[in-house]
Formats: sequence, structure tokens, C-alpha cells
Amino acid sequence: MPLLFPATESFISPAVAAAVAPAYILRPLSSSDYAAGVLDVLKDLTTVGDISEDKFLAHFEFMKARPGEYFMVVFEKMETRKVVAVGTLLVERKFIHECGLVGHIEDIAVAKSEQGKHLGKHLIEALDHIGKASGCYKNILDCSPHNEKFYEKCGYTNGGFEMVSTTSKRRKDITNLNRSNGFDRLQHD
Ligand code: ACO
Repeated sequence: MPLLFPATESFISPAVAAAVAPAYILRPLSSSDYAAGVLDVLKDLTTVGDISEDKFLAHFEFMKARPGEYFMVVFEKMETRKVVAVGTLLVERKFIHECGLVGHIEDIAVAKSEQGKHLGKHLIEALDHIGKASGCYKNILDCSPHNEKFYEKCGYTNGGFEMVSTTSKRRKDITNLNRSNGFDRLQHD
């Protein structure tokens, strides 16, 4: 099963893996996760759109060809072999702070049926572990006010405002989504 990055202990937190075992396995995104439903889980976060398997695989290969940058992890439920949670750490290379690295936590989603079982918290711990192993001096994220308490429980503090400039296409998507799904789901993507 081709993985996005090596499933070594420096990237896959042994503590988190042990905490969710044996019901779930923590691992990097795999090229076979299209069939395992990773995009369905992301639909609990926001719109995903109509993505073919070919497009998914092309995206997967793009990320895999950039080692040290894209870390997408999943929890797979052993009973169903389906992905039930997914999250990303994107490592940014800066010049400031002596060419420091910053981890950006993105697109965190736990399947509705699995929420409230501490998988979200373990997901953030798993991404924090990768950030540390990668040498990031901090990890940052944007979220809606609705999720602030969740991130506080994960050890994060409110660091200020998010400013956004959307493209006109994105603005139209947001307006449509806003009409059908409610504002709350738009804040973070
Ligand atoms: N408000 C207040 N407390 C919360 C919330 C919330 N919205 N969500 C979770 N918590 C608390 C829990 O009660 C729990 O508290 P405890 O440790 O005292 O028992 C703690 O936070 C950990 O909760 P988990 O069980 O780990 O949360 P879960 O697995 O349900 O995951 C998540 C939380 C990721 C927000 C999930 O509900 C989800 O996928 N929601 C839809 C998508 C989404 O909003 N994703 C986050 C977008 S922001 C981003 O991507 C950077």
C-alpha cells in the first residue's frame, strides 16, 4: 500500500498509535484511501466536489514528490477498514527565525459517527508529533469560533485574527454553500 510518507516512529506517534489501538490504526494517507472513503470524511468539514480517482492519485503523487512538506494522516477503523478521521500538517520553509519551519494544521475532520471519542484530539497530537519531528518551531491553524474550545483542549491558544481574501470563484462557492449548509462550516477552509 503506497504511503504518502514513511510510517516511521519519527512521523507516526507511538503514543497516539497505542492510544487508539486496537480499534483504529494511525497511519499516513495511502493511495488506496480513495476507496477507503477519505474524501467522504472531508465532506464532514466542507465541500469536496466531484473528484475522480485519477485526480485523487495525481494529487497524491504531487504531495508524495515533496518529502518533508505534506503530512496527511488518517485513522482507519479496523472493523470496517474505512478511514474515519483525517488531518494534514503542511511544513512551510521560512527565511525568518534562521530559516525556521512552521507547521500549518489543515483540514481536520472526524466522521460524524466517530466524533466525541477523542479521535480529533489524538489527530492533533499526531500532527504535533510530526511538527516536532520535522523541526517546526510552532504549529498554527485557523478555525471557527465554534471549534475554539476543542483546540484549547488540544493545548492551542487563540493567537489573533484570520484575514481572508477569496477569489471570485471561491466567493461564489461560499455563497452557494452558505445557502445550503449554514455559515458555521465555512470558517476554516
Ligand atoms: N466545542 C467544545 N468542546 C469540544 C468541541 C466543540 N466544538 N469539539 C470537541 N470538544 C471537546 C470534547 O468534548 C473533548 O473534551 P474532553 O477532553 O473534556 O472530553 C475534547 O474537545 C476532545 O474532543 P474529541 O472527542 O477529540 O473531538 P472529535 O473527535 O469529535 O473531533 C472535531 C473534533 C475535529 C472538531 C470534529 O467534531 C469534526 O470533525 N468536526 C467537523 C469538521 C471540523 O469542524 N473540523 C475542524 C476544522 S478546523 C481545521 O481544519 C484547522
